[in-house]
Amino acid sequence: MTIKEIFDTMEYGPAPESAADALAWLIDQGDRFGHFIDGAWTEVGDTFESRNPANGEVLAYITQGTPGDVDKAVAAARKAQPKWAKLGGHGRARHLYALARLVQKHARLLAVLETMDNGKPIRESRDIDVPLVARHFYYHAGLAQLMDSEAPGMEPLGVCGQVIPWNFPLLMLAWKIAPAIAAGNTVVLKPAEYTSLTALCFADICRQAGLPKGVVNIVTGDGATGEAIVTHDGIDKVAFTGSTDVGRRIREATAGQGKGLTLELGGKGPYVVFDDADLDSAVEGLVDAIWFNQGQVCCAGSRLLVQEGVADRFHAKLKARMDKLRVGNPLDKCIDVGAIVDPVQLETIHGLVDNAGGDVYRAACDIPEGCYYPPTLITGLSTSDRLMQEEIFGPVLVSTTFRTPDEAVQLANNTRYGLAASVWTENVNLALGMAPKLVAGVVWINGTNMFDAAAGFGGVRESGFGREGGWEGLSAYLRPEGKRKTLSEIEPLTGDPDKPGDGSLDRTAKNYVGGKQARPDGGYARPVWGKSGALLGHVGIGNRKDIRNAVEAAQGAKGWAGTTGHLRAQILYYIAENLEARAAEFAHRIDAMTGGRSGEKEVAASVSRLFTYAAWADKYGGDLRQVPIRGMALAVREPVGVIGALCPDEDPLLGFISVMAPAIAMGNRCVLVPSEPFPLAATDFYQVLETSDVPGGVVNIVTGSHAELAPTLAAHLDVEAVWSFSSSDLSKVVEAKSAGNLKRTWVNNGLARDWFGREGEGRKFLDQATEVKTVWVPYGE
Ligand code: NAI
Repeated sequence: MTIKEIFDTMEYGPAPESAADALAWLIDQGDRFGHFIDGAWTEVGDTFESRNPANGEVLAYITQGTPGDVDKAVAAARKAQPKWAKLGGHGRARHLYALARLVQKHARLLAVLETMDNGKPIRESRDIDVPLVARHFYYHAGLAQLMDSEAPGMEPLGVCGQVIPWNFPLLMLAWKIAPAIAAGNTVVLKPAEYTSLTALCFADICRQAGLPKGVVNIVTGDGATGEAIVTHDGIDKVAFTGSTDVGRRIREATAGQGKGLTLELGGKGPYVVFDDADLDSAVEGLVDAIWFNQGQVCCAGSRLLVQEGVADRFHAKLKARMDKLRVGNPLDKCIDVGAIVDPVQLETIHGLVDNAGGDVYRAACDIPEGCYYPPTLITGLSTSDRLMQEEIFGPVLVSTTFRTPDEAVQLANNTRYGLAASVWTENVNLALGMAPKLVAGVVWINGTNMFDAAAGFGGVRESGFGREGGWEGLSAYLRPEGKRKTLSEIEPLTGDPDKPGDGSLDRTAKNYVGGKQARPDGGYARPVWGKSGALLGHVGIGNRKDIRNAVEAAQGAKGWAGTTGHLRAQILYYIAENLEARAAEFAHRIDAMTGGRSGEKEVAASVSRLFTYAAWADKYGGDLRQVPIRGMALAVREPVGVIGALCPDEDPLLGFISVMAPAIAMGNRCVLVPSEPFPLAATDFYQVLETSDVPGGVVNIVTGSHAELAPTLAAHLDVEAVWSFSSSDLSKVVEAKSAGNLKRTWVNNGLARDWFGREGEGRKFLDQATEVKTVWVPYGE
């Protein structure tokens, strides 16, 4: 193109970034890669090709990891872990800092390599991915440094198995590795098979940084290698980012293995544009929301919801902008949309769109031959259509309209996912009013795709659980110090059914559902015997229908989530007051049931525990994150929703209250199955609840067999979290059954907890009872 032609057309000239350094690095490595285990490269095994999707060229040959390779990597990580942890916060911080510096030093190489391997525009890998990687290591160097003082009494989990996707290969690696090693864990990480190269380059950087061998191990391969890692006996914690289907499979495969698990899965992010929004900014935001990384972004704003009055105008502006997008060689610095990661993914997008129906608008821009897909807008779909619900993971936006803010909320939340949402309006009241109503882990106001290491990222519903970034991200890699004892199963006491009664009135405790005592559906009850064989009463044998009724009642009490912390504190104090008024009666009941003599102490501890959570009720709302934008990110702690819990069998009143109180203090509703052998303290407790202004449906109690009720509770799609502290270890069934709607689980893995001591209360309970929603609020003109 001549200068005259450029002035005549004002066309962009090509501005290619040089691939020379990246190609030289590949050649230096011999373009065939083994794994990086114990600080060294392994022999190259059976390989598969890694291709540049922009031109189809083979970049390198990558080793397919075998179970034997995984064994070696886990062994190396295990060996390295104690010494790495012993380095202390400052020692580890120095290494993380070195990694951050080296990422910056090699920024251009990493960016080019990423673009060649993945097909994303160099503009993005250079200005977004790689700087965020460096930022992540800096931030976590800071967390490592502060850990000793700010997280006393916590220790690393051990060896982490981490599996990542292909859409942000190096960034996802940083999100996984940085918090894990900052906390003192070691890592076995598997990159996605399409995009292993920057992970291997990072391995090289670990060597240059002098990271002790075995701290970071990279094993390449496909899903089978991933499965071998996540299910490996030597792995203490699994962190996964990828598709919801695979996330669900990992949940099932790891059930009952005692591993920590965080899942960052798919999304179908609503992008809500109100009629008073700055429409031009909203169009530009949409370019970032859905055409960033070719739309291969889990938190993409892939579902446009635009207010009816401006819809035509907005769509017209959007189409005009789409036509101007530049699709092409990702290494060209003037390119907006690069190549799709692989022909297989391209096929998937074609398959989804070709069968979509609706009005399909393809951008009238030049689309090169090869692995490219045009920016596309689809209108005229109904909300239940597949493409309104399913992740396309390509540069395809679906759009629909709404009339009122309420309708916008309804449409936005009409999805099985809950990862991210954007809201565009110039009305601050409307924007801040929408944020809490959107079911999502991240809400961007007048913006989109903002990320930072200081701000938690992660989803709710089938978008997974756990957060990456911030202290909450680090906490997934830590546990309280010390070894827990094994919990033995506690059997109910037995008595003589033929012994004549003492003439007192028969009392069969019912369930407590929706604020009322409810006869168990099956109509069956069982006797509860005291130590001396005396009959203390009968208790209902709840069944799956009772659980379903209780969940329905809990779902009906949604208003509780919107009450103030102050009100919830008042109610918890009131419960404590009413319990204390009947302290002697409860103490007597506990002693009679358990045959112990600690009833009085247990009631006193229960009153104190209620005070603890009354105290917390208005003090755990969240905080402000210092993110590098002109604006702020609010980390808001929201209730999880309906929590189902199998309460501890031991300490029947204190255990019950230790579970109930944090749940309701944080605004959750709960369905509680009390101690199986000693249920009567919880059933007596109805009367305390009834006299303490607890709204019906907030606390529901179903007595019965833990083993029988656990699967129903864990599988119920309207339950958002399940906790199991049962002495019959139900961790496996609870975790496996939770996979349906990917509810959060918290299980005891058959280990005891001292309910009287510090581990019976506190932040861990509050964390489990809340979800962090990050609300990004940029401001200024
Ligand atoms: P995927 O979920 O299959 O792959 C992600 C990672 O998991 C890869 O490293 C893969 O090797 C590994 N993996 C696969 N099966 C595994 C198993 N059973 N156990 C352990 N690890 C396993 O995603 P894929 O097939 O690459 O893409 C399919 C669809 O998934 C995409 O079209 C997109 O809709 C979605 N996806 C979502 C991502 C997100 O960030 N939410 C990222 C990548 C894909």
